Amino acid sequence: MIVVSGIQPTGKPHLGNYLGAIRNYVKLQDEAEAQDGKCLIFLADLHAISMPHDPAQLHASTLEMVATLVACGLDPAKSVLFNQAQVPAHAELQWLLMGTARMGWLNRMTQWKDKAGKNREGQSVALFGYPVLQAADVLLYQATHVPVGEDQKQHLELARDIAQKFNNDFASDDAPVFTLPDPYIPEEAARIMSLRDGARKMSKSEPSDMSRVNLTDDAETMAEKVKKAKTDPEVLPSEGAGLAERPEARNLVGIYAALAGQSVNEVLRQYGGQGFGAFKPALADLLVSVLGPIRDRFVELKDDREALDAILARGAAQAREFSRPTLDAAYSALGLVRG
Ligand code: TYM
Repeated sequence: MIVVSGIQPTGKPHLGNYLGAIRNYVKLQDEAEAQDGKCLIFLADLHAISMPHDPAQLHASTLEMVATLVACGLDPAKSVLFNQAQVPAHAELQWLLMGTARMGWLNRMTQWKDKAGKNREGQSVALFGYPVLQAADVLLYQATHVPVGEDQKQHLELARDIAQKFNNDFASDDAPVFTLPDPYIPEEAARIMSLRDGARKMSKSEPSDMSRVNLTDDAETMAEKVKKAKTDPEVLPSEGAGLAERPEARNLVGIYAALAGQSVNEVLRQYGGQGFGAFKPALADLLVSVLGPIRDRFVELKDDREALDAILARGAAQAREFSRPTLDAAYSALGLVRG
């Protein structure tokens, strides 16, 4: 089992990142350790430059993201924790895969379409080529399991298509260069929605901070955000099917279920028939009990610059070593002379 995943160090990590992905990094890190596998988690700083950004801000958020991941339970002694910019093999393999990825495949990516909107001509080439770098990220380590939220599923399907075409075009059947990675997507929390609009994803780039719970929010702020979350005037139904046309209610119950480790029906067995006046305070308490300790550890770690730099340097050295055989194999399969 080889677990690989990445998170962009832009903005503050939020509840969607935690329930959709980070929590599973930690779970799979332990499974990988038990099976003598590997777990590599990186900060996708190279991806972050595909959109307009402030360099000083990117630098600071990269270190904050390391502190957050460690605070969430990622253990640099068990996992390889690093940033892409310190492992040039990511950018190298991206270029090698550019010859295999097709324009038509990238044109179909919904994230590209959403981010570019009507102004495709004005976007960076990096934003268009972004999914090829993401493919390189996982193929470089022969990833088998890639823990992500639902929004990254299409990018991983593309990574599989690229791997398959590269293997077909440049490798023999009995010695493929790349392993086809599988996404690992949680059932209950694959897509956490905004607290202000049940039709939009909770996102770091949404302008209103009230739309998300940040992992670094204090208890009061978390409770306030839950209290102000958009809902409807109905009481909660007694079964999940009753939430079908109620996106905001469904989102809050889904968050509760994911945090409590229960199914939506189990939560509704307890809260069905009650209004949000009763449910919201219970959700706020649960949030604070799960995220409060993470925030406390984050506050302890975030200013220890030396320790954070050391974690990244060590992780990068390991990642450079693990990536070498696959990178060499890709260069060689393409017939590139390197001396
Ligand atoms: P990013 O930084 O947007 O998000 C990091 C992880 O959090 C998940 N996620 C969510 N899950 C549930 N509900 C939400 N509202 C929500 N918002 C975000 C994402 O699915 C992701 O797993 N392109 C990636 C970073 C990346 C990557 C990779 C991931 C680069 N290379 C290779 C996996 C493998 C991204 O921008 O994630």
